[in-house]
Amino acid sequence: MKNKILITSALPYANGPIHLGQLAGCYLPADIYYRYQKLRKRDVLHICGTDENGVPITIEAEKQGKSPKEIVDFYHNQIQESFERLGIYYDNFSRTTTSLHHKNAQDFFKRIYNNDYIVTKTAKQYYCPKCRRFLPDRYIEGICPFCGFSEARGDQCEDCGRWLDPEELKSPRCKICGEKPVLKETEHWYFRLDLMQPKLEEWIKSKKHWKNNVKRFCRGWFEDGLKPRAITRDLNWGVPVPLEEAKGKVLYVWFDAPIGYITSTMEWAVKNGQPDRWKDYWFDDDTKLVHFIGKDNIVFHAMVWPAMLMAHGDYVLPTEIPANEFLNLKGAKFSTSRRRAVWLHETLDSFEPDLLRYALSVNLPENKDTDFDWKDFQNKVNNELANILGNFINRTISFIAKNFSSKVPPATGFLNDDREMLERILKTKKNIEERIEAFELKKGIKALMELAKESNRYFDKSKPWETIKTNRNKCAQTLNTSLQIVDSLSVLMEPYLPFSSEKIVSMLNIKRNDWDRIGEPRIPKNREIGEIKILFKKVENEKIRFEKEKLGIKEVKMPETISIDEFAKVDLRVARIDSAEKVENAQKLLKMIIDIEGEKRQIVAGIAEFYTPEELVGKTIVIVANLAPAKIRGVESNGMLLAATKENELALLTVDKPMDTDAKVS
Ligand code: MF3
Ligand code: ZN
Repeated sequence: MKNKILITSALPYANGPIHLGQLAGCYLPADIYYRYQKLRKRDVLHICGTDENGVPITIEAEKQGKSPKEIVDFYHNQIQESFERLGIYYDNFSRTTTSLHHKNAQDFFKRIYNNDYIVTKTAKQYYCPKCRRFLPDRYIEGICPFCGFSEARGDQCEDCGRWLDPEELKSPRCKICGEKPVLKETEHWYFRLDLMQPKLEEWIKSKKHWKNNVKRFCRGWFEDGLKPRAITRDLNWGVPVPLEEAKGKVLYVWFDAPIGYITSTMEWAVKNGQPDRWKDYWFDDDTKLVHFIGKDNIVFHAMVWPAMLMAHGDYVLPTEIPANEFLNLKGAKFSTSRRRAVWLHETLDSFEPDLLRYALSVNLPENKDTDFDWKDFQNKVNNELANILGNFINRTISFIAKNFSSKVPPATGFLNDDREMLERILKTKKNIEERIEAFELKKGIKALMELAKESNRYFDKSKPWETIKTNRNKCAQTLNTSLQIVDSLSVLMEPYLPFSSEKIVSMLNIKRNDWDRIGEPRIPKNREIGEIKILFKKVENEKIRFEKEKLGIKEVKMPETISIDEFAKVDLRVARIDSAEKVENAQKLLKMIIDIEGEKRQIVAGIAEFYTPEELVGKTIVIVANLAPAKIRGVESNGMLLAATKENELALLTVDKPMDTDAKVS
């Protein structure tokens, strides 16, 4: 194992508040990992800061009628504060508008320029005749040539994650005025990614254990062959290109931003009075460099940034890139620039940070996208966190308060059940260690909850409320054991639930245990324990309704039952699919002509991901025939087919035996 761990979290753009999608994608996992490593007493740093250059900032400034500087100052502070409130801890939280960062980015550029990895090229670029300017990156939108997403940006498609050249977009339009742009010549500096391909490929091949999403992504890129990429832009906000002949041009934000990891580490070293300490991390192969990111950042962290580091030559390369998928808002994406999100700072105005940390931890999009839903949040907090973990700690401490005058009962002799529980703690500890080291953080918190469940079972089985009357010694032992478990839980939960962990430590009136001593009974008898604090307050319906309304989700009260007459209003019919085809520019939709009793109808359904048009033709399905006609993406649909659906699965309802299409379903 490497001795030093340098953890970075993707520098968030200072163009809006932090939302829950970003938290689950990167910031919370990084913090859990960092806190865990700290508990293991490892030499570890967590570095971050705001990404303050580039088009995401200037677009927001234009939208708000403010200067870019005003925008980044405001959001830098807001983001930093909301991270703090959630207990996300950074050794340094910097920003990319500092003069140190500008210098670092320029030096980096010059170094690889001198190493012959940068060439200049005059090429045609999109220009908006109405706004009279070039349209870099997000100033241009259009249809993604790879996945068909209609709001793809000039430099990246948010939907499939591809890094794009603006020339590749279909039906391009100016983001500001909607005008169709024209091509105009301009000179730019290109990074020779093509030269780096063999080395990169070999390097990534050596990362056998990396997550599939990262490896799959890179493989796709290599197959297409890497090409030189422009790393300069026509823009008046950002890091100026350090070349005489490049007046008025700035570095592409994705060129300077990752260098911010280095700048932020340098700043940390200076603040700590050891200005050279950053080199111990960045110049030493014994550093485990871990980049926490969301999947939209994969190409930059697994390809472009390592290629930059290789071209530079002095720095350590990334060791791990635990990229998460997305946490979505009921199927749709969170989006800062489009202001569609659940915002961190607002959530913290309503809920304790650990409630949010818990709900996100058990729902981390580690292997696939997951959904955020307020009702689900409430269930997780109330039924899991409060009812299982909170309950065990609370019943233990209140029992001691009530029956032992808040003094730790003595261990009168550990019985089998007690010993089993202590062993169980050790097993859980080992399990959590393995899971966190493998970046399977969700499994870590689940293991902790299993231990809490087991502890409740042990408590129930030991029946202290009976033994207090019949066998006070045994009762004392039960509570003593329970309290030792609480002590261990408080350490094990710290990476995930730091605020609650702290509360428990103060209730126990003792210094936090060492990770290595988890499971060893250590709380001395007769010690007076502190006041009971509520750990997890249950979330009331009222609050959930409020949050849902903020998102524009109205809660519809469903009747518990319906009458047969009501059901009969739904005209369910058997239909045969005569033909099926894809709907243009809508990847998920299929248009079908169906036959009901000889009548031909057109219906549209979102099933293209699950069925090809060919396999549908001839199938006998079930449809709602009397649904009011609707237009889906501009295509008329006269009926709705029925299907069984689950996350990522869909199966059409068909009939069990051949049936003519004059059959009614009832
Ligand atoms: N600002 C980018 C985003 O929010 C992430 C930048 S990560 C860095 O997607 F490495 F470039 F800093
Ligand atoms: Zn325009």
